[in-house]
Amino acid sequence: MKFFIDTANLADITEAQDMGVLDGVTTNPSLMAKEGITGADNIIEHYKKICNAVDGHVSAEVISTDFEGMVAEGEKLAALNPQIVVKLPMIADGVKACKYFSDKGIKTNVTLVFSAGQALLAAKAGATYVSPFIGRLDDISTDGLGLIADIRLIYDNYGYETEILAASIRHVMHIIDCAKIGADVMTGPLSAIKGLLKHPLTDSGLAKFLEDYKKGN
Ligand code: E4P
Repeated sequence: MKFFIDTANLADITEAQDMGVLDGVTTNPSLMAKEGITGADNIIEHYKKICNAVDGHVSAEVISTDFEGMVAEGEKLAALNPQIVVKLPMIADGVKACKYFSDKGIKTNVTLVFSAGQALLAAKAGATYVSPFIGRLDDISTDGLGLIADIRLIYDNYGYETEILAASIRHVMHIIDCAKIGADVMTGPLSAIKGLLKHPLTDSGLAKFLEDYKKGN
């Protein structure tokens, strides 16, 4: 399972990269705004910094909602660095732009996916990644993990190569359940990634080992 971090915070990205477990980064306009990164030029510069901080794919989201605008923006983003994946919204022009980019060999991530039908469209358009938002579905009392399972089944039925990027991950159990289902990638905050480390028996066991070591020395 690939681990992406879902943030535009360079310190968090660097911490996850330094742990040696990071495979990429996802961002969105809200995450950029959260870090105070506003304005097209600043956002472009920030993408360059993120690419320098990690080895893997970096999803950069377009703001346009029409085909021509998405193509112009996506081509500019893709030209920044080979690590860039053009992130497109799941709307009709987004699907069309996804097909356009996949035909040109440019990597894509279709975002704001909330149904199996939307995921099927993304795969047919040749998306590199599809991003179902499980946390936001859970927020409205809908089965986010069930959606991941449905998409896994559909993609396996037809051998679609689009990778399932489980997004809007909120906590450790989301990651574990997505791994059990077979999501190809998960993207979540640093807190969820670091949460995987935690077990009270690890902490108490280590404390005892260190205590016993001191007794013998
Ligand atoms: C995915 O690419 C999105 O950036 C993200 O996972 C959205 O998560 P949220 O629901 O926590 O905003």
